[in-house]
Amino acid sequence: MQGEGNNQAHFGFRSVSESEKTRLVGEVFSSVAKRYDLMNDLMSFGLHRIWKDFAVRQSGLGKGDRALDVAAGSGDLAIRFARQVGESGEVVLTDINPDMLELGRQNMVNHGHLRNIRHVLADAENLPFEGERFDCVSISFGLRNITRKEQALKSMRRVLKPGGKLMVLEFSEPTSLQLRRIYDRYSFRVIPKIGQWVANDAPSYRYLVESIRRHPNQLSLKVMMENAGLDAVRIHNLAGGIVALHIATRYG
Ligand SMILES: C[S@@+](CC[C@H](N)C(=O)[O-])C[C@H]1O[C@@H](n2cnc3c(N)ncnc32)[C@H](O)[C@@H]1O
Repeated sequence: MQGEGNNQAHFGFRSVSESEKTRLVGEVFSSVAKRYDLMNDLMSFGLHRIWKDFAVRQSGLGKGDRALDVAAGSGDLAIRFARQVGESGEVVLTDINPDMLELGRQNMVNHGHLRNIRHVLADAENLPFEGERFDCVSISFGLRNITRKEQALKSMRRVLKPGGKLMVLEFSEPTSLQLRRIYDRYSFRVIPKIGQWVANDAPSYRYLVESIRRHPNQLSLKVMMENAGLDAVRIHNLAGGIVALHIATRYG
């Protein structure tokens, strides 16, 4: 019988043990943290900002609400949430990686006036918050890096208030074959080269491209969310399905 941590997981195209995946993903993000924001802008031609703006508009958060951004990294969503919920609201920014959490903390300082944000070092699979606490929980470009995705979805559902929304913004599957071909060429040939020039780290960006191909597509992720107990899952394709926003509600 396999013990916990000995089950297999994907690290990009490689099959590794679950504990090995967690370790390798940690190394990737510690390595890319310094150039993380710049690389996001370069690789997506700035589009990730538009996708994140769209997600926050869909959150339905109002003044005084509570939001949790999981695997928040540099805090792009948390910053937007903080403005939306105002000083009477609360935003909690979490990440498992101390280097990424520190990047988020520095970005908050640079944005000033965001006193309603707290930072917590936490594993998405086991969130250290009481149940039914948040009006909205988000995870943006984080889920595919998590070793036990189902467990993370259940953990995020647990801390959502009934009626609250879970938003998963993640790379997905282009809806047209032609776009898929162009996107494949760009991803495999260009992105690792940008990673090498800008961050001196092609392997981490090769992992990024491979991890996207391993991630469940729109419909599989919807089923996964339903299996985690989430309801009314809606899918918004962005950039022709290169990215998808899944929004679910917790009914009960
Ligand atoms: C690609 S970054 C996304 C950062 C940010 N949310 C964004 O949209 O730019 C993925 C983040 O997931 C974090 N991560 C990976 N596994 C995690 C886990 N089990 N729990 C919490 N965060 C995790 C990484 O440390 C990293 O900061």
